[in-house]
Order: sequence, then structure tokens, then C-alpha cells
Amino acid sequence: QLGEELGGLAGRTVLVRSDLNVPLDGTTITDDGRVRASVPTIRELAEAGARVVVTAHLGRPKGEPDPRYSLAPVAARLGELLGRPVTFVEETVGERATAAVRAMSDGDVVVLENLRFNAGETAKTDEGREEFARQLAGLADAYVSDGFGVVHRAQASVYDVARLLPHAAGGLVRAEVEVMRRLREDPQRPYVVILGGAKVSDKLGVIESLLTVADKLLVGGGMVFTFLKAQGHEVGRSLLEEDQVDTVRGYLETAAEQGVEIVLPVDVVVADAFSADAHHEVVPIDAIPADMMGLDIGPESEKVFAETLADARTVFWNGPMGAFEMEPYASGTKAVAQALVERTRDGAMTVVGGGDSAAAVRDLGWADDDFGHISTGGGASLEYLEGKELPGLQVLED
Ligand code: 3PG
Repeated sequence: QLGEELGGLAGRTVLVRSDLNVPLDGTTITDDGRVRASVPTIRELAEAGARVVVTAHLGRPKGEPDPRYSLAPVAARLGELLGRPVTFVEETVGERATAAVRAMSDGDVVVLENLRFNAGETAKTDEGREEFARQLAGLADAYVSDGFGVVHRAQASVYDVARLLPHAAGGLVRAEVEVMRRLREDPQRPYVVILGGAKVSDKLGVIESLLTVADKLLVGGGMVFTFLKAQGHEVGRSLLEEDQVDTVRGYLETAAEQGVEIVLPVDVVVADAFSADAHHEVVPIDAIPADMMGLDIGPESEKVFAETLADARTVFWNGPMGAFEMEPYASGTKAVAQALVERTRDGAMTVVGGGDSAAAVRDLGWADDDFGHISTGGGASLEYLEGKELPGLQVLED
């Protein structure tokens, strides 16, 4: 398919934008899900005889080289997963990058250094990105957009390059968009959404639009304390976004008017410090002590959430239920993952979105195929569901 759209692949140099933004501990990749998800398109191109130039970002360096964010370990992992040699170039554009690309043979794969070591990648204006985009485009004959996790970014390698080269969407972007489109336009009902993670302010837009599509919304994670506060509960030292309390109260009212059930925890695990060995206990939500913080949903809430999910035909989950990376606060996230696995086995469409939730389910020992779909997109999937125009998709349609 890519070959047809791009007018042939053999012998042509194809610039691929992947999302290889993986969590690292030093130089060790702690979750390689995005690398694995990027393999099929790169393999497809290489096997068709293209010269594949892979570009990606890692973290948020400040527009100049920063060794902590080098893609070198990611390129090595890509080579292992592809089962073919991958050449890493310590530069994104410039003499060394050009020489490395010129030296390629058909079927070779090169990974260029972190795009964000160049200020032009993330510049806010078209003019600011233009030169860097031209340099990137100058390396190749065609462009494949395969980084679904970045399609919400109007950045040089996502947006501007597509305007300079013959282009196509890669298999990952196509598959992700199809899943997200079904969630947005055509979910089988009941459609239950589970939202967690630290900040409600990151999810305002998506909550608003979910209230017009979903049947039930379960809320956990750090963001739930702003909901509990909006309902009049005291939340002690838990995460709270005071400035969002009124907005959230508005959501609770809208949900009630529209018949969308918002399900909040009935109990929480509170601790006297944000640490695994802090003193912790389970309390009902109307008895959170003033000097403690909520770090997970409690066991009664796990049951309520599981019951709410029991008849769901479509489930979208974004954001952990608690500070799952610390064992005493992992139970709520495990329970939600377990409920999703059961729904998947029952034939429901289940989608896990967002780097943290995807890493959480893998960390907890689940395999990708225990779920219907694990999205590589965090912000991108939320913005898609919110109904926003995503520059990286729009430019491909244009
Ligand atoms: C992500 O991690 O969601 C994507 O890789 C995008 O990264 P960004 O939020 O730094 O643009």
C-alpha cells in the first residue's frame, strides 16, 4: 500500500517519522512498547527495498544536543527488534547525516539523532521551522508519517516535511486512527471511559467531549481529588487543582443533565508521605485526614469500578488510578487492568491510551494482546477524542 501511494519504494530514500519517545532509566529502556509498535512499518519499507531514514524525538531537550536524550539506545533496541543492522548517526541534519544517507544501500535502515536537538523542530512559527524542515526533506525522496503519538504537534518533522515531499500515513498511524475514530464516532454501548493520572487540567477538553459520547465516566488517580472537592469533600494533602474546582463542578452538572453517569471512588488509600514506606491506610472519601494524601483508590472503589465495567461493550482507559509505581498504591490500577482484560475476553472493544497507562499494564505483567488495543498516543489520542484537528493528520489529508 505504501509503495502504491508513494509511487514505488525500491531504491528510494524514505524519511519515516516514528514516535520512539520511550521511558529511559539512564540508557536502559524501561518500556519499549513504542519501539515495537514502530517496527512493522520500518520493516515493510526496508523489505520493499527502500532506504529507510528513521527520525524521532526523545524527551524534551531544549533545541540543542543533550546526551541524556540521545536516541542511541533506542536505535540499538530497534536493530534487535528488526533483526537487521541499524546505523545510528549522531546528528539529525548536516554533513554527517547527509554522508550516512548517501552511503545507504537498498533495504538499509539509518536512525538519525534526536530531532529536538535542533531548535527548528519545535519552533512555534512556520518561518522558525522552515529551514530545518527543508534540511530534513533534502535527505529523502518521500515521507512516511508513522508516529501517532506526535500527530498533535505542529512540528517540522510531523507537519512541515509532509508539505515538502510525497507522503503517506504508515500502518501504525492508520491503525490508531481507525481505533480512535470508532471510539469517537461509533462506540458499541455501553461505552465506559476510565480517566486517571495526575492532572485534571490536562484532560479538560476531553472530559467535555466525552460527556457527549460516553455512557459512564470513571475517575481515579490524582485528578479525582479535584472532583471530590467539587462534591464538597475535604481532600487533606492530596493533589488538588483549586482553580479547576468550579469547572469540574460544571462537568458534574452537565453529566447529570445529559444522563452520563460519573463514578467516583467511595474510598481511598491515604498516606502520610509520597513514599512506599509511608504509613498508609484505607479511609472512606468523607474521612480523608487533613494531614494525609490520597495515593490510590480503595478496595470498595475497586469493586464499584469493576461492577460499572461489567457490561461495557467499549472501554477507553487513560491514566493510572494511583501512584502504581509504588507497590502499596498499585492495587487500584491492577484492578482496573484486570477488569479490562476480562472485558477483552468477553469480546468488548478495550483501548488503553497514554504512555503511563500502557507502561503500567506492561509493568503489572500484562501482555499487549490481553487488551484490544494499546495506543502509542497519550496527548494525541486525547486530542483526537476531543475532536480537535491534529496538524500531523490534517497535513496528510491535504
Ligand atoms: C508523547 O510522549 O506523548 C509523545 O511522544 C509526544 O511527546 P511531547 O508531549 O513531548 O510532544
